[in-house]
Amino acid sequence: MNNKNKLKKLDSHFEFGLNWKNFSSLIDNHSLIYSQKAFERLGLNNIIKNKTFLDIGCGSGINLITSLRFGAKSVYGIDIDPVCIQTSKEVLLRFTKSKNWKVYNKSIFNVIEKPFKKFDVVYSWGVLHHTGDMFKALNIATSLVKKNGYLCVALYQKTFLCKLWRLEKLIYVKSPKIFQKLIRSLFKLILILALLLQARNPITYIKNYKKNRGMEWHYDIHDWLGGYPYESIDFNYLQLLLKEKGFKIVKTFYKKNRFFGLFGSHCDEILVKRL
Ligand SMILES: C[S@@+](CC[C@H](N)C(=O)[O-])C[C@H]1O[C@@H](n2cnc3c(N)ncnc32)[C@H](O)[C@@H]1O
Repeated sequence: MNNKNKLKKLDSHFEFGLNWKNFSSLIDNHSLIYSQKAFERLGLNNIIKNKTFLDIGCGSGINLITSLRFGAKSVYGIDIDPVCIQTSKEVLLRFTKSKNWKVYNKSIFNVIEKPFKKFDVVYSWGVLHHTGDMFKALNIATSLVKKNGYLCVALYQKTFLCKLWRLEKLIYVKSPKIFQKLIRSLFKLILILALLLQARNPITYIKNYKKNRGMEWHYDIHDWLGGYPYESIDFNYLQLLLKEKGFKIVKTFYKKNRFFGLFGSHCDEILVKRL
């Protein structure tokens, strides 16, 4: 890839950092409890104690705090966005007295150098599909797991409309802020109407949104609409790939997209163990 193309690719990368920075002011003990519950659902709480933990694409840093709360020996976070690293540091300092953490402004494609070795637990929630080369990123993530160690990833499910969403995201990141706000408002309205059609209360839905790993509706919508680069994967294929790489499947959370991706995709989760 020549320099001009590299620059073009970087320019159209969504400003994840800014979104996580804005979200971080809303992180409270309730958010952390829901983040802990998400770890417990996968059984990570029983695995992490006294282990080394790497979070690829640490975003706001919320998962780093959770891993420390579950007794990880040392915790490392990397993110390509410097604002994410700054935010993660602030959030870590706000919620933990532990010194057993380090965060690096690094891309997954650039972790070969020191101090990167192998980890007991490699975790990456909603990240590898935003790197611009999901399969290469997945390959690197698997290579960072120690023997008998664990890998936990969450990736966007491939839907019928993924190509269209990819285009939407490209348009969104290149649009002025005012146009982004307009798209967001329209999308929120559509989601609310869809909830009403399913006889669900949108107010309760938005209020309870925190139960999704401690996240917030507004920031997740901005992240969904703007999350470019964007890729997605068939869940059966993901399982096959991980098995081929010498992993045993420990736990999966898969939910079929009922609307062919009309309202967007979602992340399926998988926890695997290196044999
Ligand atoms: C949707 S956010 C998920 C954040 C976090 N994992 C969470 O669960 O809240 C995706 C994150 O991946 C980061 N990211 C994108 N490409 C990356 C890369 N090549 N290497 C490391 N991080 C990357 C983004 O900066 C962003 O913080």
